[in-house]
Amino acid sequence: GHDKVREYHLRIGGGHSTLHPGLETATWGYNGAVLGPALRIPRGQPVRLYVHNGLDQSTTTHWHGAHVPGTMDGGPQSLILPGKTWTYGYTIDQPEATLWYHPHPAGRTGPHVYAGLAGLYLVEDGTDRRLGLPHHWGVDDIPVIVQDRLLDARGRLVYMPQAMDVMGMKGNRFLINGRESPILKVPAQWLRLRLLNASNARIYNFALTGDQTFYVIASDAGYLESPVRVQRLLLAPAERAEILLDLRAMEGKRLWLRSDSAAVIPGLSLHPMDSDQFDRSNFNLLEIQVDTATSTGGQLPDHLVDIPRLQANAGSRRFTLRGMAMDKMPLAQQALAKALHNGPAQMSMGVGREPLFSINNQYMNMQVINQRLRLGSTEIWEVYNDAEMAHTFHVHGTSFQILSRNGKAPPAYEAGWKDTLLIRRAETVRFIAHYGHPAPDDFPYMYHCHMLEHEDNGMMGQFTVS
Ligand code: C2O
Ligand code: CU
Ligand code: CU
Repeated sequence: GHDKVREYHLRIGGGHSTLHPGLETATWGYNGAVLGPALRIPRGQPVRLYVHNGLDQSTTTHWHGAHVPGTMDGGPQSLILPGKTWTYGYTIDQPEATLWYHPHPAGRTGPHVYAGLAGLYLVEDGTDRRLGLPHHWGVDDIPVIVQDRLLDARGRLVYMPQAMDVMGMKGNRFLINGRESPILKVPAQWLRLRLLNASNARIYNFALTGDQTFYVIASDAGYLESPVRVQRLLLAPAERAEILLDLRAMEGKRLWLRSDSAAVIPGLSLHPMDSDQFDRSNFNLLEIQVDTATSTGGQLPDHLVDIPRLQANAGSRRFTLRGMAMDKMPLAQQALAKALHNGPAQMSMGVGREPLFSINNQYMNMQVINQRLRLGSTEIWEVYNDAEMAHTFHVHGTSFQILSRNGKAPPAYEAGWKDTLLIRRAETVRFIAHYGHPAPDDFPYMYHCHMLEHEDNGMMGQFTVS
């Protein structure tokens, strides 16, 4: 029956994963060596998730984008001690969407995600089948989790080996679903890719071979009203998009999903040290080989869903993002000396770092509630980026609608439900969200930059809803 509780079991542990044939590295994963299973969460049905921590250090599991109360949100307060199991129980009521889950321990989210802990969380209510969208998992509906990693000469994961990594850890190898350079074989029909940028700090500007057009059908937290035709799609860390590719006339051909970073990324920061060679070039991520069509292909509808527009019923709030000044760099180097790790097994430090990034001139402090919201309120938040580099902004427990970027309407592919956004230098973004679940003082929600080294180094705040 519909009211029967559906159960899920996740076991966090270490293992060895093959990034490509012959290249083995120690990683962490849920129910395996790296990443985790895609959880299918039926909208409206009670679920219970058991998360066992098999690591030798505490962690948390956060349901990114899920509308759950603060007690079930898996933020920094919800530590799962080594050997313990945390049980989450709730009922999701929000539109069908591709969300995700990952650790969120204070000051250690960067190394924990980097070690391999991330998975997809699919809220399902049957909309894709009703619309006739491609929905055969692994056939024409494909998860594409994009991450960059740095390995040492012995193939071990390296985290933050140099001072500039405090600005955001970036790697020189690109993994799709935990593997380097995989080949995706798909039928010659409409293909749906569920893109998740699960990288710690890198922004991707997705494109296809020959600048072939594709269609964005969903943003972070739900479908758009109608498909948006694009040739490029910028996704910052933690952002998702579902895209449709028309492969009907491409049988026997191959194409690449790549990032045209050179076209946009250098302009996002004033510091040359923030960007590496990949930020200044174009590079391939995933080879797609097109095979014979099956008989069950999906379609691209003209109209997807109706999105009710939110109306504010409470006051608004303003947030200012600031980064470390360049004259503070020696501080960053000290911080780094404390944070240096050489593999998942040693990724347990990360404490005692000096905060470097702030929101409203405040650094994340677990003892401080930064904002108090009324349960049932719908508020406009305005976020201004006063830093010298681009940041992101993510809010727990809700989804938002972007009202404006520097006073102008957002691009069409951002006009649906979001929970994370990119904010360029000197940009002001206004968005509106409804806060319909409680978050008490002992389990508050977070708002933060999702560039994980920024989040771990101060750029996060806590809010209650009551
Ligand atoms: Cu993806 Cu505070 O989280
Ligand atoms: Cu989140
Ligand atoms: Cu940031």
